[in-house]
Amino acid sequence: MCGIVGYTGPQRAAPILVGGLRRLEYRGYDSAGLATVEEDRLILRKRAGRVRALEELVEEQPAPGGAGISHTRWATHGPASDRNAHPHLGGRGGEWRVAVVHNGVIENHSALRRELESQGFAFASQTDTEVIAHLIARELESTTDLFEAVRRILQRLEGTYGLGVVAPEHPGEIIGARFGSPLVVGLGEGEHFLASDPVAIAPHTARVAYLQDGEVVRLTPDHFEMRHLEHGPITPRIDRLDWKPDAVELGGHAHYMIKEIFEQPETVVDACRGRLRRGEATAVFGGLNLTDRQLRRIRRIVFAACGTSWHAALVGEYLIERLAHLPVEVEYASEFRYRNAPMDDRTLVFVLSQSGETADTLGALREARRRGHLTLAIVNTVGSSIARESEGGIYLHAGPEVGVASTKAFSAQVAVLAMLALYLGRLRHLSFPDGLAVVEAIDSAPALIGEALQSEPEVERAADRIAGVRNALYLGRDIHFPVALEGALKLKEISYIHAEGYPTAEMKHGPIALVDRETPCIFVAPRGSLHAKTLSNVEEVRARHGMVLAVGTRGDSTLAERADIFLPIPEAPEVIQPLLAVVPLQLLAYHVALRRGCDIDKPRNLAKSVTVE
Ligand code: AGP
Repeated sequence: MCGIVGYTGPQRAAPILVGGLRRLEYRGYDSAGLATVEEDRLILRKRAGRVRALEELVEEQPAPGGAGISHTRWATHGPASDRNAHPHLGGRGGEWRVAVVHNGVIENHSALRRELESQGFAFASQTDTEVIAHLIARELESTTDLFEAVRRILQRLEGTYGLGVVAPEHPGEIIGARFGSPLVVGLGEGEHFLASDPVAIAPHTARVAYLQDGEVVRLTPDHFEMRHLEHGPITPRIDRLDWKPDAVELGGHAHYMIKEIFEQPETVVDACRGRLRRGEATAVFGGLNLTDRQLRRIRRIVFAACGTSWHAALVGEYLIERLAHLPVEVEYASEFRYRNAPMDDRTLVFVLSQSGETADTLGALREARRRGHLTLAIVNTVGSSIARESEGGIYLHAGPEVGVASTKAFSAQVAVLAMLALYLGRLRHLSFPDGLAVVEAIDSAPALIGEALQSEPEVERAADRIAGVRNALYLGRDIHFPVALEGALKLKEISYIHAEGYPTAEMKHGPIALVDRETPCIFVAPRGSLHAKTLSNVEEVRARHGMVLAVGTRGDSTLAERADIFLPIPEAPEVIQPLLAVVPLQLLAYHVALRRGCDIDKPRNLAKSVTVE
């Protein structure tokens, strides 16, 4: 998704603007640009391609000034090109009065464009954003207040926006506005920052103020003013980023993805911190905003999510049904929001999201709340739209996840869902001893994940074997079916190999037609209640000369001798096995993508947070 960075203060803006864009590169984009203001001059530098290309342009043609905005664009209207890159300029007859960067989509841009063209505004790009720049420029012909000019035009826009605005007649001033696309202010000493994601400004300040829909801010080096479009002045709520300063650095790893895969033991520790209660054999959550009595009344749970979060929710379904005997439905958020699924007042809706900004999931949240359903969120990003608009929920505490392919967030979600299942079970019928066994299992997970990571050498040998294939089948039964889906998604999204996940037994109902020597069948089959049945499915593949990879319990010779490649994970209670089984699949996707020369942290066509529908 697009990224925005703004700065106003005593330092030169350009290095901060470019450095911020570098931190947002992982979000996916196809062009980058910046605009700075020095005295009454507006300087514009923008280029299709990577941030590096912009950096080289600014080295050749410096962009002086202590205030500015910058942007990485993920094309929605018009292809990636220099002229479609942001910032966009507004004005008539070549007199540029404003520069704008924009995240989101302006639905009524065509009508606005025709109106502006009829009044002599010439358009240089094919983007919807440019209409915003000319609208502001037109207002500046009748007001000397940049804040007021922006406020007026926002009423004309239909759609979503996160905006950054600078103007040469207003040196040192940045206006920011948010409706449906995230924006955050960073507060420094004698300087202020603006960003679409706090990752961009984390090295400069830990004090942030998140904008909500309908809010507009004016920033100068020494001044920070926030107003609501309808309600007027607002006292901003200042949050503190709880990350370690190097959280968004690579820390010696080759890619964010591999760094975050290896962070998972610590991630699960952080997700569980302060939530397991051994003495009561249960888990506790501070933010559900529901009493035990209210939770006992719940008769059904609906999860709505996308992608990896949807896979984590599927693991949650198995866990909650098993431990709490509660019916659970897992919905694709994009489907849930438009279906008319009957739900009564004893249905509890959870949305799951790492970024907290996924448009489909936010839409599902809003739809559930619009219909009066109790709606909670399991989310990683503090202050995100989903975190703020839900009625309570559970933070993952996984720290920023930078790799586009989600890994540690999945583990954090599964750990949280295991604790939620325990908590709901112990509110009902789950016995103390059974609850304690779950507490012990979850408590043991970080160390066991660490052991699973040690299978990386075997995984690299497996990657050597399958890096050239065109298709792959991932198969798992019961609680490992979602893990199979997640393994398939990882391989798809970073190595571009076609991969499908199925319930193992379902393979016989069609997918087995795909089996040949060139199509690896990857079985997720740790020792458990359905292990024997899975062995039969392995034999069915072998009988058709298919290639068998198996993720299994270390020492399971029965499975290992039937597999061409065996990827061992440690023995563990079933309730935490997904946390272990996913590790070799994450590593496999990573090492296959490496061998295929793919751009691992910035896979083609993908974005870290999909803030468009
Ligand atoms: C997962 O690797 C993908 N990056 C993608 O499917 C992602 O999980 C999905 O877009 C949901 O994102 P969210 O968890 O931030 O809502």
